[in-house]
Amino acid sequence: MDSIHIYGGIPLSGEVRVQGSKNAVLPILAAAVLVDGVVTLTNCPRIADVECMVRLLTSVGCHVQWENGQIRIDARGAFGDSLPAEYVTQMRCSVIMMGAVLGRNKKISINYPGGCVIGKRPIDMHLQAFARMGVSLTEKNNILTACTENLCGSDVSLPFPSVGATENTILAGVLAKGETIIRGGAMEPEIQALCQFLVRAGADIRRDEKEGTLRIRGVERLHSCTYDIPFDRIVAGTYLLGCMAAGGSIRLTGVDVSQLTAVMTVIEKMGGRWEYRNGGIVLKAPGRPRAISYLKTEVYPGYPTDLQSQLLAVLALAEGKSVVEESIFENRFRVVPQLNKMGASINIEGSCAVVQGRKDLWGACVTAQELRGGAALCIAALAAKGETYIGNRHFIDRGYEALERDIRSLGGRI
Ligand code: EPZ
Repeated sequence: MDSIHIYGGIPLSGEVRVQGSKNAVLPILAAAVLVDGVVTLTNCPRIADVECMVRLLTSVGCHVQWENGQIRIDARGAFGDSLPAEYVTQMRCSVIMMGAVLGRNKKISINYPGGCVIGKRPIDMHLQAFARMGVSLTEKNNILTACTENLCGSDVSLPFPSVGATENTILAGVLAKGETIIRGGAMEPEIQALCQFLVRAGADIRRDEKEGTLRIRGVERLHSCTYDIPFDRIVAGTYLLGCMAAGGSIRLTGVDVSQLTAVMTVIEKMGGRWEYRNGGIVLKAPGRPRAISYLKTEVYPGYPTDLQSQLLAVLALAEGKSVVEESIFENRFRVVPQLNKMGASINIEGSCAVVQGRKDLWGACVTAQELRGGAALCIAALAAKGETYIGNRHFIDRGYEALERDIRSLGGRI
């Protein structure tokens, strides 16, 4: 059944180990195509987006084995240069296969990845970077073909620190001739994990903290290696905000709190009390969260856009009025009408959500419109009085490997 049933109004109490990061494992899986050898990844989350990426790897000739949390990729036969449309259109982040397949095979044909409900999500910055590296790009019947005689390192300035464009440029630069400099690139932890993995496979990548640039010197080939996928900071933030909404106290293990600074600051402002000891965050929620007068989502290390909807679900119960501005995507308030069905009082004013906190939310039948909005509905349902049914749970399964398991471990009834 494509729905989730949550019985809310019960303060959380329990502990969970946070899964591996979706947004780290996806680019690293793409990067495995560059390796003339075998890559073993551990702590991989079993989620729909990873299944989709595994199919894309297989379609270009990789041999992939996936047992429990370990994925083994033998990319010695990865000479394919076109990706099946059904998977590309299913997951837009398949666009990061471009940099990897170009790097390995100097050619790729791919369906133009569509936008999604949160925004148009163009890839102009990705393509501009490829063009600077000597790649010629043509498009016919919505199929984008990129090819090059040889990939040359180049000085690339990104007009916006796009995560995907930064990842694609890194992937294209690793085996290119000469040096690629990325100015104004994204600094998210997932980019750092990708660079760490590539260096372990023999790439030459240096971050110049002062200049804020990434320098990639092309090498001849990459060799086999193993890599442990870091924890998912967005899943961790989701569970922390779930506790802030439902109340109680929880412990998250397997996390690095230094990647959650902006989130913990907001949790403190709302009255949460937390401490970090031996790799775990212990959070104690206030009786009722305090409102946040104004918060704007930012690129890392600012407050992440991927935790914006989840924050609205907490602020819907806060004492007072809050304003949240979404600065990264143009249409990322799709969850608001669903939250209002549960008794929230949220209005959209331009790029801001204005939230009048209410004492209670009420269980209802609601529908997820996309991944993080669906997670926000789970948070609201945990706090709401009565039962909530959330439809379209497949959106949530794209990023949360075992929602029932984790929420039950945290004391929720799901
Ligand atoms: C990554 O998407 C994440 N996905 C997103 O997480 C996350 O919200 C986003 O980064 C921002 O942090 C993965 O890592 C798989 P961007 P990405 O390129 O790379 C515009 C989730 O919930 N832009 O940084 O697509 C774009 O339209 C997902 O896990 C251009 O205009 O994000 C957007 O407004 C959702 N031209 C902004 O930049 C371009 O060429 C940020 O996009 C590229 C991007």
